[in-house]
Amino acid sequence: MLNQRRVFSATPYFDDESIIGIVDEIKVILKSGMLADGPQVKNFEAEFAKYTQTEHAVAVNSGTAALEIMLRYFGVEGKEVIVPTNTFVATPTSVLFCGGTPVFADIKAETLCIDPEDVKRKLNSKTAGVIAVHIAGLICPEINELRELCHNNGLFLIEDAAHAHGAVIDQKKAGNLCDGGAFSFYPTKVMTTGQGGMITTNNPELALVAQKMRDHGLDPDRIMVMLGDNWCMSEVTAIIGKYQLANLDEFVKKRNEIAKRYDHSLAKSQHISLFQTPDNIRHSYYKYPLRLNGIDKNKIAFILKNDFGIDTGSIYYPPCHLHPWYMSNLHTRKGDLPISEDVLKEVLCLPIHLGITDKTADYVVDSLNTCISRVSDEK
Ligand SMILES: Cc1ncc(COP(=O)(O)O)c(C=O)c1O
Repeated sequence: MLNQRRVFSATPYFDDESIIGIVDEIKVILKSGMLADGPQVKNFEAEFAKYTQTEHAVAVNSGTAALEIMLRYFGVEGKEVIVPTNTFVATPTSVLFCGGTPVFADIKAETLCIDPEDVKRKLNSKTAGVIAVHIAGLICPEINELRELCHNNGLFLIEDAAHAHGAVIDQKKAGNLCDGGAFSFYPTKVMTTGQGGMITTNNPELALVAQKMRDHGLDPDRIMVMLGDNWCMSEVTAIIGKYQLANLDEFVKKRNEIAKRYDHSLAKSQHISLFQTPDNIRHSYYKYPLRLNGIDKNKIAFILKNDFGIDTGSIYYPPCHLHPWYMSNLHTRKGDLPISEDVLKEVLCLPIHLGITDKTADYVVDSLNTCISRVSDEK
């Protein structure tokens, strides 16, 4: 590496006040001995429901668990669930773990989100529902169309909101747009608890089932009434979540400022296409994707890291249907989902998190421009 400077593509953020508050509250629960099943999880759930404007929030120990619980509630065994191929593998694997089959749909090149037209093409008598992923933090702009489509066909629609904490469309928060929302609190996410997840819903029955299913299927009298697992969140995790949630709007605002700075600096580059955010959407900018026009993304990513110390990401390459496991087991093939395959291999994500100052953002842009000139001169 020529340059020792290091810019991570994602990193969690805790201000000093939050760290002091978290440590103090953890001390109290360590002394109380109530590390699970205490008031902190309930409090975090209430705060999260209030934030997302949903009637219920049920805390779990990962975003994957949130998806799996909802899929088990809706019942997907022996059925198909349509998911975008552009997502983290956890989205389709959660369907498989519930005994269903994920059917991959293509995306729209302008948004990187699932294409409702392809969803329509994939509907059949075995379809149980659809999972829409708010990719990179952009709420699927066609979420209302998807909801209507699912409603008219008797299907459930789940929001995979793992990227979209604090994202808004038409004044409604991510997680409050469909039958249920699944959030992840993994450390790279817009807010984190280390590991953790949340289900949001306005369906009281789903909320009740989720509360039992996450705790071995036990009801409040500790009688097993359904098949469940250990998907509970700990009290320590909930404390961390509470402090992160209190800062979420600030995090999203800062991410939007960084994105705007990148947009402004890169707008004129002939080698880059930027993604637009519709006016009715507040993006959460979990990631800042851009598309490189005819320039080898892997070379750019390699030089950025090696010569400039800048980590980048992809979202997502390979798309799920081109992962070897899916190719072998679901018999997906290259060419199945042409838009995803064409676009995603050119999509690079620039670092975006609370540690990116204006100076760092400018360094990222200058370094990217230098890499692009170098790689295009080689041609
Ligand atoms: C789109 C998407 N769905 C689901 C998940 C799963 O969340 P978790 O890692 O908390 O299980 C992730 C996590 O990275 C994700 O990015």
